[in-house]
Amino acid sequence: MYTPIQLQELIEEAIPQISYPAHPSNLYEPIRYIMNLGGKRIRPVMVLMAAELFTEEIEKALDVALAIETFHNFTLVHDDIMDNAPLRRGKQTIHEKWGVNTAILSGDVMMVESNKHLAKADISVLKEVLETFNLTAQGVCEGQQLDMEFEQRNNVNIPEYINMIRLKTAVLLGGAMKLGGIVGGAGKTDADLLYKFGENLGIAFQLQDDILDVYGNPEKFGKQVGGDIIANKKTFLHLTALALAAEEEKKVLNSNLSSSDEKVKLVTALYDRYQIKALATAEMDKYLKEAYQALADLSVADEKKTNFRMLIKQILVREH
Ligand code: IPE
Ligand code: IPE
Ligand code: MG
Ligand code: MG
Ligand code: MG
Repeated sequence: MYTPIQLQELIEEAIPQISYPAHPSNLYEPIRYIMNLGGKRIRPVMVLMAAELFTEEIEKALDVALAIETFHNFTLVHDDIMDNAPLRRGKQTIHEKWGVNTAILSGDVMMVESNKHLAKADISVLKEVLETFNLTAQGVCEGQQLDMEFEQRNNVNIPEYINMIRLKTAVLLGGAMKLGGIVGGAGKTDADLLYKFGENLGIAFQLQDDILDVYGNPEKFGKQVGGDIIANKKTFLHLTALALAAEEEKKVLNSNLSSSDEKVKLVTALYDRYQIKALATAEMDKYLKEAYQALADLSVADEKKTNFRMLIKQILVREH
């Protein structure tokens, strides 16, 4: 069995070998740029790890893993346009570097490239692979739409927020796990448990992402710290603070202060006052527990699950 680090290396080796057409270079260069910018590669590693629970031939899952990582990077390209984000993985975002129209179109082509990887799956599982991928991809779009709609609303509640992050983030981790299982030969019950594991881990992952957006170390985070506060995102931190804050403080949370730096400072101070970081971490733990339960219920030998425990630990100490 490979360790998560070894699987990550396998992905790192495979990504630069993906070949894209040369022309028009302004369409394909941004794709090479974002794909080789060095993300954590969590999702493709999950695909390979899930497959490895059921087969020794993990190369059977490599194309699906590349499809998932390409799709993930596509969502980041469009997400950065929507979130008006200047930085991704410590570098300029594609729309900043090449313009919004190129970012839209390069993103579109990445979706096509994902499908090209998927189409290489074995014919015996192809239909199920496509169905699972399509459900996943559609869920991400639904979540992203809700995320944007929530920016304009001041009455979002916590269950609505959890459902939004389930869609925009967690279904992709769930989908990655399930796809790995399908390609590896898992039965239906296990494939569904793999999905459940990934989905719960994904909710915890997005909660952590929201925490890091405020409390991340700017040198390691690779994204603009405070970006969610500036964009008026309805994160768990925001909603929890809103429920605890006094009337005057609520105005700060819902304000559009002229200086975004000032807003980030004031809102962060308010989060500190109400210990929002600890509350968000406790919420994360609820979903992690669910993930561990799904893992425990999987019908494979316990020693095979060690990798997933390592992966969870690796994800939980992330700083970017
Ligand atoms: C970023 O995902 C988008 C979220 C769902 C929070 P990652 O944090 O996995 O991004 P990379 O691929 O490692 O850069
Ligand atoms: C992640 O949401 C969801 C998707 C990219 C689909 P965020 O907007 O929080 O992701 P980051 O923080 O920009 O990576
Ligand atoms: Mg976003
Ligand atoms: Mg974003
Ligand atoms: Mg974020």
